[in-house]
Amino acid sequence: MPTDIQNNGAEDEALALYVHWPFCLSRCPYCDFNAHVRDTIDQTRWHDALLTELSYWAKQTPGRTLTSIFFGGGTPSLMDPATTGAVINSAANHWEFADDIEITLEANPTSIEAAKFADLRAAGVNRVSIGVQALDDEALKFLGRGHDRDQALTALNLAEKIFPRFSFDLIYARPQQTADSWASELREALSFAGDHLSLYQLTIEKGTPFFTEERAGAFTLPEEDNAAALFDITQEICDQHGLPAYEISNHAQPGSECRHNLTYWEGGDYIGTGPGGHGRLTIDNTVYATEQIPGPENWLEEVETSGHATRQRTAIDAEGRVEEIFMMGLRLSNGLSREIFWAQTGMELEDALEPRRLRPLLTENYLVLDSKGIRTTAEGRLRLNAILAALLT
Ligand SMILES: C[S@@+](CC[C@H](N)C(=O)[O-])C[C@H]1O[C@@H](n2cnc3c(N)ncnc32)[C@H](O)[C@@H]1O
Ligand code: SF4
Repeated sequence: MPTDIQNNGAEDEALALYVHWPFCLSRCPYCDFNAHVRDTIDQTRWHDALLTELSYWAKQTPGRTLTSIFFGGGTPSLMDPATTGAVINSAANHWEFADDIEITLEANPTSIEAAKFADLRAAGVNRVSIGVQALDDEALKFLGRGHDRDQALTALNLAEKIFPRFSFDLIYARPQQTADSWASELREALSFAGDHLSLYQLTIEKGTPFFTEERAGAFTLPEEDNAAALFDITQEICDQHGLPAYEISNHAQPGSECRHNLTYWEGGDYIGTGPGGHGRLTIDNTVYATEQIPGPENWLEEVETSGHATRQRTAIDAEGRVEEIFMMGLRLSNGLSREIFWAQTGMELEDALEPRRLRPLLTENYLVLDSKGIRTTAEGRLRLNAILAALLT
């Protein structure tokens, strides 16, 4: 029988809420998120089901304080803003809101969605994260996006006026992208940026059209050395502009980090509601991993029948918890602090290194361990995926 982890009091702590909206106008060929295209969406049914599942979660987490809500997708900017507002209001009835609660919504920059920004702000959203992906029309076409550069710039301009905080995403290390072209695209992007930017290297995910196309030789990604050079340039330019990386792909002015995502990376508790939502919840001193039914129609029917669509709820054993706390914490530039490791696992860092073969990574200078905690070096960050994979072997 697995030993359930004794979590040091997370039940009294902050709680984050993730809400998944699974629909998009079209599917991007690189994306393997839980995203679906439908001719029509019954917004009323979805509104009612989201509120129903929220009540289910509220019953399991009484007395907790919400520090963030994140509407992710899919494309949540396609949600009826009245539904977004109803979810926020219902959450406010179920839980206490932290004074500085962060309420983020992921938006695509098409004109249809930008037109909803004012209504989304009025509904309570105080931060948007916009999927710009590239500032070059040719690249946007390659990425199969439904918007062009002009629409992206219009959406950014509007977001800056309407929301207290905004961020946007770019995808780099695209085929044929040179260090010079990426550097100038990134510098231009920074001239439009607010306090936060997410910069992802293009990854080829199994089961996507890009996976098949790359195999067939339709395009090639930059070689490893070139990708590493693009990563280095990214760090250098963002540092110069006052938006250093606080996580492997996320940059912010100090103090403007995405609080919701920090909750994941620091091992905090979060609810994952909506199709395919994943959560981590501490209940009666046990940490549970929760997983909702991913198919939109199946999720909807299950919520209408049973009040929720949790397909799995598993107690995480001590070993699994240590592993995931490392996996999350090592993504952060500041790494995993001794306090967080202790609070989440009840262990000292030193006692957890040996069995996970992390010691050699310290001597090889990929990781540093000191009085604050454990973190990757610049060399280690370039090999983060290999380091995380080593943890699992
Ligand atoms: C849930 S998705 C996007 C939300 C929104 N629908 C959009 O497309 O803007 C979050 C982000 O992940 C990034 N992303 C998704 N798949 C990726 C891939 N295969 N490689 C790199 N970045 C990816 C994109 O930058 C995207 O904006
Ligand atoms: S990248 Fe965004 S818009 Fe494109 S399919 Fe994925 S979730 Fe939908």
